[in-house]
Amino acid sequence: MTTIKKINDKNILGAVKVLKAGDLVCFPTETVYGLGADATNNLAVAKIFNAKNRPSFNPIIVHVSSKKMVERLGILTSLSEKIIDAFCPGPLTIILERKKDSGLSDLLNAGLKTTAFRIPDNTVAIKLLKNFKKPIAAPSANKSGYLSPTKAEHVYEQFKNNEDIPIILDDGRTKVGLESTVVYEENNNIKILRHGGISKELLEDSLKIKIIEGNKNTKFSKDLISPGMLNKHYAPKVPLRINAIHKPNLSKKGNLVEAAANLFSFLSIYEKKGKKIAIAPIPNNGIGRAINDRIVRASSSSSR
Ligand code: TXA
Ligand code: MG
Repeated sequence: MTTIKKINDKNILGAVKVLKAGDLVCFPTETVYGLGADATNNLAVAKIFNAKNRPSFNPIIVHVSSKKMVERLGILTSLSEKIIDAFCPGPLTIILERKKDSGLSDLLNAGLKTTAFRIPDNTVAIKLLKNFKKPIAAPSANKSGYLSPTKAEHVYEQFKNNEDIPIILDDGRTKVGLESTVVYEENNNIKILRHGGISKELLEDSLKIKIIEGNKNTKFSKDLISPGMLNKHYAPKVPLRINAIHKPNLSKKGNLVEAAANLFSFLSIYEKKGKKIAIAPIPNNGIGRAINDRIVRASSSSSR
């Protein structure tokens, strides 16, 4: 049985116990809710793949509480260190080569030499990590191909009957509402593999370098660098039409940050009503790029 728990020290310590026992905990981050497991425990990580019905070749992000913890597990380059100093904690995930003695589960790395690291900007997530004292492997807490959860109730709907997930920590609606931006350094260049909470412009302004778009392959292949970036993703179960006008608005004020925060819960509401979804055009800059990315992929998969 899965229970939604309110946030207090007792429930956070209860969640730590669950992680130590090798079971799963749904916890809030500033982007979307995560489905967490002890990142050093193969069996616990296997439970994530099983619960999500996630293909085993799709690697999972490792959440840590500090830069120090990143350094213990991955190999930092000067550019990746600069990114961490500027944007972490925050909605950014950085892919690094993994240290040989990291102790991280091979399963979560899906056969790659690299691991994706993220320091979430959410007090509950950080408290959980600090009390657990180990890295937490966590993808978004949704079944593969479905909407990422921005509320505890979304998680509950998908996983309420899963015995491996006894606890959902309920921190209300997530602040950013879209997943983290995933970046990778290659030959002193930074590539974006997934647009998200930190915009390309913000990265460019802060690092004073041009950011390169990552691989946009739509099919799985051996050299696909970010296996989760399938075209078919984030699917609501009702048809979705983009660039509509005169329809409910993600942000009446035209504020892109507000639109991002509303996107997944908006899609989920319309999915429940069983109505067709129409979304007004979104400017393709800043966080708008991440919103458009999710909308395009949701609409290309909605004909399933
Ligand atoms: O905001 C977020 O990032 C949320 C919260 C819970 O932290 N997590 C999340 O995880 O969105 P997930 O598993 O749904 O998406 C992670 C993405 C996937 O596209 C995966 O393929 C990619 O990151 N990824 C993970 N490890 C990777 C690696 N070593 N190399 C390339 N891509 C990787
Ligand atoms: Mg996901």
